[in-house]
Amino acid sequence: MKIVKKTHEMKTLSAKIKSEGQSIGLVPTMGFLHEGHLTLVRASLKKAGVTVVSIFINPFQFEPGEDFNVYPRDLVQDSSKLKSEGVDYLFAPSVQEMYPNGYKTYVEVHELQERMCGLSRPGHFRGVCTAVLKLFNIVKPDKAFFGQKDAQQAAILKRMVKDLNLDIEVNILPIVRSADGLALSSRNAYLKGESRTAALVLSESLKAAEQEIDMGEREPNVLIKKMKKLILSKPQARVDYIEIVDRESLIPLENLAGHVLIAIAVYFGKVRLIDNVIIKIKE
Ligand code: PAJ
Repeated sequence: MKIVKKTHEMKTLSAKIKSEGQSIGLVPTMGFLHEGHLTLVRASLKKAGVTVVSIFINPFQFEPGEDFNVYPRDLVQDSSKLKSEGVDYLFAPSVQEMYPNGYKTYVEVHELQERMCGLSRPGHFRGVCTAVLKLFNIVKPDKAFFGQKDAQQAAILKRMVKDLNLDIEVNILPIVRSADGLALSSRNAYLKGESRTAALVLSESLKAAEQEIDMGEREPNVLIKKMKKLILSKPQARVDYIEIVDRESLIPLENLAGHVLIAIAVYFGKVRLIDNVIIKIKE
C-alpha cells in the first residue's frame, strides 16, 4: 500500500490508474478506523479495480468548540489495518494541502443540510460536502462508499452527486454494530464507564420503535414520545433530536409509508452519538 500525502501526486496516480483502464473506488474517512470503516473498504476492494482510502480530519465540518483538536487519531495503526486489508492507496493530506491559504470555496446542499444534525451543527454538512467534493476531484473515483450510520450525510452526498452531475456511483453500506448493539463510531472512544452502557439505549429505542411499528403503530408522534421516554430513562442522556423522516428528502413524515428513516441524536455529557434505522412499512 502506498501512502500519498500530496494532492498533485494523488491526481497523477489516479490519471495513470484510469489510463490503464482500471476503476477507482474511494472510501473517505477521518481515520481511527473500526469495522464500520473496514466494511466500506472491503466493499470497494470487491467492486473496484483500485481502492483509495482517504484519511482527513476535516476542520470545516467541526463547529467552533467541537472536538476537532482532540478527535482520535492513529495513522500508524490505521495504515497497518488498511495494508492488511489489501488497500492500494492511502490518501492522507494535511489541512494545508486540502485548504491552502486563501481557500474560499464551499459546497452546500440546501434544506437537507439544515435539518436534523444541521440544527445543532449548522456548518457541518457544508464542511462535509466541501471536503468530499474535493476528494472526488482529486481521486476521481468511479465508485464511492459511505455508511448508513451517517444517514443524513449519505442522503446529502447522494443529492450532491445527482445535482452536480458527478459520474460517481454512490454505495451506502449498512450500519456495523458491536455485539451489544452500539453502532461503531470513532467517537465511542470518548464513552467512559456507565456512559458506554447507557449509550445502548440508542439502538434499544430504535428497536422498540421498530417493534411498535410491527405491531401496527403508525403515528410518528406516538413513536417519538415512546422513544424519548425510553432514552430519558438514562439519567446521563439528553435528546438532541428524534426524527421520523423520508429517507431521501429528510422531511418529517405525517403518515408512515414506504421506507421511513428513524434517526436520533443523543448527548451523553459532551459526547454526541447518532444512530438510525430504515424501516419498510407494510401496507
Ligand atoms: P468518518 O466518521 O470517519 O466515517 C467514514 C465513513 O464510515 C462514513 O461514510 C461513515 O458513515 C462510515 N461509518 C462510520 N461508522 C460506521 C458504522 N458503524 N457502520 C457503517 N459505516 C460506518 O463520515 C465521515 O468520516 C466524514 O464526514 C467524511 C465523509 C470522511 C467527510 O469528511
